[in-house]
Amino acid sequence: MAGKLSPSVMCADLLKLYSEIEKLDKLGVEYLHIDFMDNKFVPNITFDTNMVKNMKRPMKNIRRDIHIMAFEPQQFFDNMEISEGDMVSVHLEACEDVHAVLKEIKDRGADPCIAISPDTPVESVSEYLDEVYAVLLMTVYPGFAGQPMAPKSMERLSSLRKLIDESGKDVLIEVDGHVSWDHCSEMRSRGADIFVAGSSSVYGKDYELKDAVEKFYSLVE
Ligand code: DX5
Ligand code: ZN
Repeated sequence: MAGKLSPSVMCADLLKLYSEIEKLDKLGVEYLHIDFMDNKFVPNITFDTNMVKNMKRPMKNIRRDIHIMAFEPQQFFDNMEISEGDMVSVHLEACEDVHAVLKEIKDRGADPCIAISPDTPVESVSEYLDEVYAVLLMTVYPGFAGQPMAPKSMERLSSLRKLIDESGKDVLIEVDGHVSWDHCSEMRSRGADIFVAGSSSVYGKDYELKDAVEKFYSLVE
């Protein structure tokens, strides 16, 4: 399977959000990465649930890749209208009952994913591999765009890939944070499948969106 792209919409020009999503959809990009933050699990706020819900409006083929950086994320599922076609990542560190939250995502017809922050051992996802579509490996500390890569991220990525392969489960890896032009090919070779592209690549300052997307796909095929 070729690498899939999930541009991080918090890095886009938010005053042109509708047309930004339409452009990505027309370019055939698979996912739109939507970071939702509660200002508790992470010291930042991005979009409210109503915005996350309305981002579906311009979408024809592109799908929501919703990354919920919030405690007890299930409280937001109704207002976000989580449903079939969505990919939803919840943080292992933020849920009282991770199994129940993953089940609720699945019961809504969406693809459940488990996210782990840089200080959480990759082995901690082992017990969830039967219940998830993907593991979201944070390669920066969650909360802000534009950060440097967290230490040992590349080694963690290889360890996670090895752990999943040895489990025999068909689980993808999404990498999120400083997925830069320089890093994305190595991330691909170490086993990443879905790439959250933000300020360090697709939404960097030097490229037209179309050219940036084409360049990214050439680096992760
Ligand atoms: C950070 C977010 C990332 C971020 C990626 O908490 O989850 O999606 O926006 O952007 P860059 O590429 O700037 O790290
Ligand atoms: Zn994210």
